[in-house]
Amino acid sequence: MSRKRVGILISGRGSNMSALIAAAKAPDYPAEIVGVLSNRAAAPGLVIAAAEGIATASLAQSKFFSRDMFEDTMTLVLESWEVDIVCLAGFMRILGEDFVHRWEGRMINIHPSLLPLYKGLDTHARALADGASEHGCTVHFVTPGLDEGEPILQARVPVLPGDTPESLSARVLIEEHRIYPEALRLLATSLQ
Ligand code: GRF
Repeated sequence: MSRKRVGILISGRGSNMSALIAAAKAPDYPAEIVGVLSNRAAAPGLVIAAAEGIATASLAQSKFFSRDMFEDTMTLVLESWEVDIVCLAGFMRILGEDFVHRWEGRMINIHPSLLPLYKGLDTHARALADGASEHGCTVHFVTPGLDEGEPILQARVPVLPGDTPESLSARVLIEEHRIYPEALRLLATSLQ
């Protein structure tokens, strides 16, 4: 078995990134994390990745003439790491069609809702405002439409009396950290 080479895109704390790094330490895991790229130089996740001995890079979109140039440069970085699979883990930029098509079928994202419910931002507050009785998270393929790609795995959690967006988010995050490594395992295995 050749382990698939994975690049992770982040913008912030990187807890899902950390879950993927931890899972990939198992000798029988079918993927290895070879690089972490952030669009924010101050993303705390970059420090965590570097401490794990993983290559890191940051690119600020504002320094580029256009989104296409920014995303072409991201692709160059990912290609320099010889990446087979791209995992979005709290990457807070909407990606353009060229970038998405470049990695289509090999780029996945974790989203904190039971898609197709609550695409976009503030999913926990919106679920609470609707009086939802359950909520959760989805790992899905990335396609040009925001949060619209085919789901790979979902996990459900109950919404409990007195929940706030923060308490609900924390309950969902535990499940994110469980299903994201599992979904990456499935994808990496299917690409063998
Ligand atoms: C997670 O809730 C994830 O579902 C969403 O952004 C958040 C990122 O958190 N896409 P972290 O950086 O992985 O801790």
